Amino acid sequence: MTTIAVKDEWKRRAKIDDATYKAWYETSVSDPEGFWGEHAKRIDWIKPFSKVKNTSYAPGNIDIRWFEDGTLNVAANCIDRHLATRGDQVAILWEGDDPKDSKAITFKELHENVCRMANILIERGVTKGDRVTIYMPMIPEAAYAMLASARIGAIHSVVFGGFSPDALAGRLEGAQSSVLITADEGLRGGKKVPLKKNADKACEIAAKAGQSVDTVLVVQRTGGEVAWTKDRDVWWHEARDEVSADCPPVEMGAEDPLFILYTSGSTGKPKGVVHTSGGYLVYASMTHDYVFDYHDGDIYWCTADVGWVTGHSYIVYGPLANGATTLMFEGVPNYPDAGRMWEVVDKHKVNIFYTAPTAIRALMGAGDDKVTRASRATLKVLGSVGEPINPEAWTWYYKVVGEERCPIVDTWWQTETGGILITPLPGATALKPGSATRPFFGVQPQIVDNEGAVLQGATEGNLCIIDSWPGQMRTVYGDHERFEQTYFATYKNKYFTGDGAKRDEDGYFWITGRVDDVINVSGHRMGTAEVESALVAHPKVSEAAVVGYPHDMKGQGIYCYVTLMEGEEGSEALHKELVAHVRNEIGPIASPDKIQFAPGLPKTRSGKIMRRILRKIAEDDFGSLGDTSTLADPAVVDDLIDNRQNKK
Ligand code: WT7
Repeated sequence: MTTIAVKDEWKRRAKIDDATYKAWYETSVSDPEGFWGEHAKRIDWIKPFSKVKNTSYAPGNIDIRWFEDGTLNVAANCIDRHLATRGDQVAILWEGDDPKDSKAITFKELHENVCRMANILIERGVTKGDRVTIYMPMIPEAAYAMLASARIGAIHSVVFGGFSPDALAGRLEGAQSSVLITADEGLRGGKKVPLKKNADKACEIAAKAGQSVDTVLVVQRTGGEVAWTKDRDVWWHEARDEVSADCPPVEMGAEDPLFILYTSGSTGKPKGVVHTSGGYLVYASMTHDYVFDYHDGDIYWCTADVGWVTGHSYIVYGPLANGATTLMFEGVPNYPDAGRMWEVVDKHKVNIFYTAPTAIRALMGAGDDKVTRASRATLKVLGSVGEPINPEAWTWYYKVVGEERCPIVDTWWQTETGGILITPLPGATALKPGSATRPFFGVQPQIVDNEGAVLQGATEGNLCIIDSWPGQMRTVYGDHERFEQTYFATYKNKYFTGDGAKRDEDGYFWITGRVDDVINVSGHRMGTAEVESALVAHPKVSEAAVVGYPHDMKGQGIYCYVTLMEGEEGSEALHKELVAHVRNEIGPIASPDKIQFAPGLPKTRSGKIMRRILRKIAEDDFGSLGDTSTLADPAVVDDLIDNRQNKK
């Protein structure tokens, strides 16, 4: 296996070398109080904390608090504290879907916009602790909305703009949110996304379930026509001029919630992951600083959407807390063509570029000339996140995009972790293509077998983290019991990530992917249970089982086994209808890649579907189905295999 040593130029520039990494790591685990007490000073506190860490993973008492008696305001940390020194520096560099469309927002302008939006929210009755739902395209106003909520102590819940009205309604209900911020339409790859229309529909659905929305603040993006509900709907461009440009930040406790972000799990409905203020901001800003070896003046670009945690921590909070210029991109990687990313890199002189393996694989397929026609001379660090990066894609990213000048940071983390947990540091860590390498400061990974026995040395198993770090989620919104059950019940006294991992002889970690019923489609997390419940909601479907299978571009694809109601017949038309139905219920990211009509599903005698077998069949791995003798009807498996082979 190739190892790429840290190059001298990376070392020269870097804030952290290998010796510093080792020394800091050692202190961070032997003396977390001292370590984090010191590093928490990187943000501004209104009232300093006296206690650093108060965390328990004990069964029945999962309780995570960092800096608990300190107070701060997250928005003031991301904006106000930079005004004196960098008020005229660009905070948000916005690149529109159309290559001719871009604009720069300075910290001063960010301050004014955020204050105005905060004042509109106040006028509409929003106060500390209220939930504000944000359903936006990738425009600066999405960041204003997040920061405006943070400024007044409201808790934001950003819902990805690609989700359906049903999914949005579920999240409005879950968060009991009566305020929604959206736009008339989004624009991606030249296509319009009817956000306001979806939002109207979502409000209707939510109202039926008892959650009324009394304010919809609408940003005008395309000028497209929208329906209007008087007294409820408010145009941002009209209201903004009627409120003050000043809004004092509210003093928040370190453990007051900053946001909720819904994410898919292996069972049931998406969970509202809760992140709080102090620890989250310390962790997001510190990881942004060291993982990307950020230097003052760098232009930093993370291609994620603010609808995901990557957008929260590494487009908005981390970079802005560090006073960075953060690039926000409205479009898609292949519009107008597959050279767009590299054109944007040149146009805005991007130094740090952070994207997902699925995008790398897609661009790799589009040919090297799309890359090499851009200079990319400003690039210094390249990042990857969202799913395991295959060594071929890694090597292409390293050699063709970065011309072997830029270290690749393959950052492993989760919505739940708030920030990056396992990653190389540019000036410290020798790289191995496909490995997320070593833990960040304060992070103590452990690999355990299925019974929970700790595995030592070079090994493979289930990835756990044995002690808390400041960016960790604190609870599932409204359901602390589910928090404990999901993350702390499988292996006692440790956080279970849901991922499998290998550790090699150098102590490097290689994430192998989810070991639960969550699949990772193009870096987006999808619960198989969610897709199943969407499928069975269709009148012609009696039963469904969904598994992931390897997909060249997406990492994993969505494979659905569908049993139809008595008398129904599988057909090309029904196939299409079911795909459309799932898209409609959840959103395009949940589109089934394959549907196999199956007269029966493999079940145990107690009626449990054996997904292990379904996964193997979806992978075309018929030889190693394992023990099928416990099945209620073993013949079902042969049928499925015949069926699958006939299709090919
Ligand atoms: C899951 C978390 C964290 C931001 C984006 C996704 C997978 C994430 C990597 C990586 C291998 C990765 C894991 C994880 N994952 N980064 N560098 N290498 N796998 O956040 O939606 O919460 O998904 O994404 O399976 O558990 P998320």
